[in-house]
Amino acid sequence: MTRGLPLSVMTRLEAACDVDRFDGKGVMPHDDLVARVAGKHALLSMVTDAVSRSVIEAGTNLRVIANVAVGYNNIDVVTARERGIIVTNTPDVLTDATADFTLALILAVTRRLGEGERMVRRGNWKGWAFDQLLGMQLRGRQLGVVGFGRIGRAVAARASAFGMTIVHSSRSGSGMPLDRLLSTSDIVSLHVPLTSETRHLIGQAELARMKRSAYLINTTRGPVVDETALAWALRSRLIAGAALDVYEREPEVHPDLLSLENVVLAPHLGSATTETRTAMADLAASNLIAVLGGKPPLTPIP
Ligand code: NAP
Ligand code: GLV
Repeated sequence: MTRGLPLSVMTRLEAACDVDRFDGKGVMPHDDLVARVAGKHALLSMVTDAVSRSVIEAGTNLRVIANVAVGYNNIDVVTARERGIIVTNTPDVLTDATADFTLALILAVTRRLGEGERMVRRGNWKGWAFDQLLGMQLRGRQLGVVGFGRIGRAVAARASAFGMTIVHSSRSGSGMPLDRLLSTSDIVSLHVPLTSETRHLIGQAELARMKRSAYLINTTRGPVVDETALAWALRSRLIAGAALDVYEREPEVHPDLLSLENVVLAPHLGSATTETRTAMADLAASNLIAVLGGKPPLTPIP
C-alpha cells in the first residue's frame, strides 16, 4: 500500500493479507515503490503514484494493481496486461461527489466567488454595491459536456435542475461535434479520461473557438487542457473564465494562472468527501482481496 486507508478498510486488508504500507509523508517516492513492490502479490495505489513499467517489472509476483481512483492514467496498463496483472479502479462510488464538485466550480466561477472571497479577506470590501462582481446566471444557458460517461451525465442532470440546456460530445460520435459544442456553449465541462487521444484535447485552437463570454471547467485530468494556452486565453480575455481541479504537473500550477482573477483553482478535490473516499478505499480493498482469493474483481478496468 502506498499509503494508509481508513481503519475499517485497514482491518479488512490486514485480516486478508500481510500488509506492507508506506507511512511516510505525501506521495511514496518512486524508487521506494520499485524497491518495496518486489515479492508482493498485490499493489494498492493512489492516483498520485506512477505505476510505471519499472514498478511493474520489479513486481514479478504481482497479480493485481488496485487503484483508489476511477482514472487509471497513472498506471502502465499495457505492461500490466502483458504480464497478466489485473488492474482495477473505483467507478460509480465517486460519481455524485465529483459531479457535485463540478457544479461547485461552475457556480464559483460564474458567480465570481473566488474574487469576492479574496476581496473580503484582503479588507477591500466597502459594502454592497449595485454593480459589484456581476456574474452570469445559469438558467437558459448551454452546458457542453465533453465525455458523456458516468460523471458527465451526472453533471448534466444537476445542470438541468439549474435550468441549463445540455449538449454533449462523445468518442462514438453521438451528440454534437466538438467544434460545434465549443462554439455554441456558455460553459464547457470536461469529463473524458486522459488517454493519448485526449491529451491537449483543448488547446489554443479549441479555446479560440469558444465564445468570449464562455467558461471552461476541468475536473478530469490536467493534461486534457494545454495549460499554457489556457493561461493565454484567460489573460487575453478570449474566454470569460475557467475553473480547474486538476493540472498538467500536479501539484505545480502554471504560474500565470496563479495571478489571474478569472480562474478558480481547486487542489484536486473532486471526490473528496469522507463518505466517497471511504467507499473508494473499500472498493479497492474488495477488488484486491477478491483477486488474491482467486475470485473475479468487482471493477476491473475495461
Ligand atoms: P467514464 O464513465 O468512463 O466516462 C468517460 C467518458 O468519456 C466515456 O463516455 C467515454 O466514451 C468518453 N470519452 C473517452 N474518450 C473520449 C474522446 N476522445 N472524446 C469524447 N469522449 C470520450 O468515466 P467517469 O467515471 O465519468 O470518469 C471520467 C474521468 O473523471 C476519469 O477518467 C478521471 O480522470 C476523472 N475524475 C476526476 C476526479 C477528480 O477528483 N477531479 C474524480 C473522479 C474522476 P467511451 O465510453 O466511448 O469510451
Ligand atoms: C480521481 O481523480 C479519480 O480518478 O478518481
